[in-house]
Amino acid sequence: MLNFNYRIPTEVFFGEGQLKVLGNQIRRYGSKLLLVYGGGSIKKMGLYANVIELLQSADIPFWELSGVEPNPRVTSVRKGIDLCRKNEIDFILAVGGGSTIDCAKIIAAGFYYSSDPWDLMIGKAKIEKALPLGTILTLAATGSEMDPMAVISNPETHQKVGIGHPSLSPVFSILDPTYTFSVPKNQTAAGTADIMSHVFESYFSKTRSAFLQSRLAEGILKTCIRYGPQAMENPEDYEARANLMWASSLAINGLLSYGKERKWTVHPIEHELSAYYDITHGVGLAVLTPHWMEYVLSEQTVDTFKEYGVNVWGLNPQDNAFAAARQAIAKTREFFVSLGLPTSLHEINIPEDKLEVMARAATKSGPLGEFRPVNAEDVLQILRAAL
Ligand code: NZQ
Ligand code: ZN
Repeated sequence: MLNFNYRIPTEVFFGEGQLKVLGNQIRRYGSKLLLVYGGGSIKKMGLYANVIELLQSADIPFWELSGVEPNPRVTSVRKGIDLCRKNEIDFILAVGGGSTIDCAKIIAAGFYYSSDPWDLMIGKAKIEKALPLGTILTLAATGSEMDPMAVISNPETHQKVGIGHPSLSPVFSILDPTYTFSVPKNQTAAGTADIMSHVFESYFSKTRSAFLQSRLAEGILKTCIRYGPQAMENPEDYEARANLMWASSLAINGLLSYGKERKWTVHPIEHELSAYYDITHGVGLAVLTPHWMEYVLSEQTVDTFKEYGVNVWGLNPQDNAFAAARQAIAKTREFFVSLGLPTSLHEINIPEDKLEVMARAATKSGPLGEFRPVNAEDVLQILRAAL
C-alpha cells in the first residue's frame, strides 16, 4: 500500500428528513446565500419550495442561479460569479445532481479570481481558495457531494475539463434518498454506471497490495449491481435509493483510491465524447468501459480481472484466468445492457469522423492510466472498437 493523507472534510447528513439541519448549517458558514439549481426537477418534486421555506424562516437572504445545464457550462459559472459579487454573497448552496454541484464549486472558486473562471479550468490560473459550499443531492452518480472535484464544459472550444482543489469539497451535504425517487430510469442507469466507473478507475490498478481498498471497492460494485436494477424497477424503493446514494459518495471521496496510484483512464476519454457530443456522462462510460477492459486485458492485467470476476460476479476461482477475465468483462457489458444502456458509439449517434481528434485531445497531457497506460493510438483503437 502506498503512503497517503486521509482528508474527507465534508459533513454528511444522511437519511430521510435531514433537510431540517439546513438553516443551522448555513449559519455556521455564511449569512448571504446563492442558491444554485438546474432545469427545474427540484421544483417538480417540491424540494425547492421546502428549501425556500427553510431559508425564509431562518431569515437567510438569498439569490438564485437556475438553469444549470447537464454538462454544466462555463457561461453559467460566469453568471453565478457576477451574482455573488454584486450581492456580496458568502455562501453557496447547490441543490441538484453533479452538474449543479460542479457549477457551484467553480462559482465558489471563481469568486476569488479576478479574471475569467475558464482560466482556472485550463490551468492558466490556480485556484487559491473558494467560498464555502453546501449541497443537497438529488441524483446518485458523480460523488461531487463529497469530493473536491468539478467538471465544466466550454462548448465553444469543445472542451470538458475536470479539476480538483481541497477548497472545493462541500462543507456539508444533505443526502436524503427520497430526493432521488423522481430520478428517471435513464438517469438512474447512467448514475449507476458512473458510480461503477469511479470504482473501476481505482480498482484496476497496478498496486495490488491495497487489499482493504479493493475489498471495499468490490462491496460498492456489488451494491450497484444489486440496487441499480431495483431502483429502476421501483423508483421509490428507499433501500435501493439509499444504498446507491451512499455508494455514489464513497466511490469517489478518496477512500478507495488511497494507497493506490491515481491515474484515471476511461473518464478522460468519456469527457471528450461529452465535450464534442454533449452526451450523458454515465452513458458514455457504459459504452467505453467494456471496450477499454477488453483492450487492456493482457498477461500483466489478467489476474486483477479474474479477481474482479470471482469476487464481484461470483465466477469460479478454479477457472482459467483469461476465461474468467473475459467472462467478467462480458458480465459487465450484460449488466449495462440490462439497465438499458448502449454498448456502442453508433447507438448514441457518434460517428467516426472525430475519433482521432478526441483520442489526441484525451491524451494531450500524456498517456492515460497506470494499470495499463494508453496513448493516443491506444485510445483511438478503443474508440474504434466502440463504434
Ligand atoms: O437540471 P434538472 O432539472 O435538475 O434535471 C437533472 C438533469 O436533467 C435531472 N435530475 C437530477 N436530479 C433529479 C433529476 N430529475 C428528476 N429527479 C431528480 N431527483 O437529471 C439530469 C442530469 O443531471 P446531472 O446533474 O447532469 O447528472 P449527474 O449527477 O450525473 O452529473 C453529471 C456531471 O457531473 C460530472 C459529469 O462529467 C457531468 O458533467 N462529473 C463530476 C464529477 C465530480 N465532480 O467529481 C465526477 C464524475 O466522474 C463526472 O465527471
Ligand atoms: Zn464519473
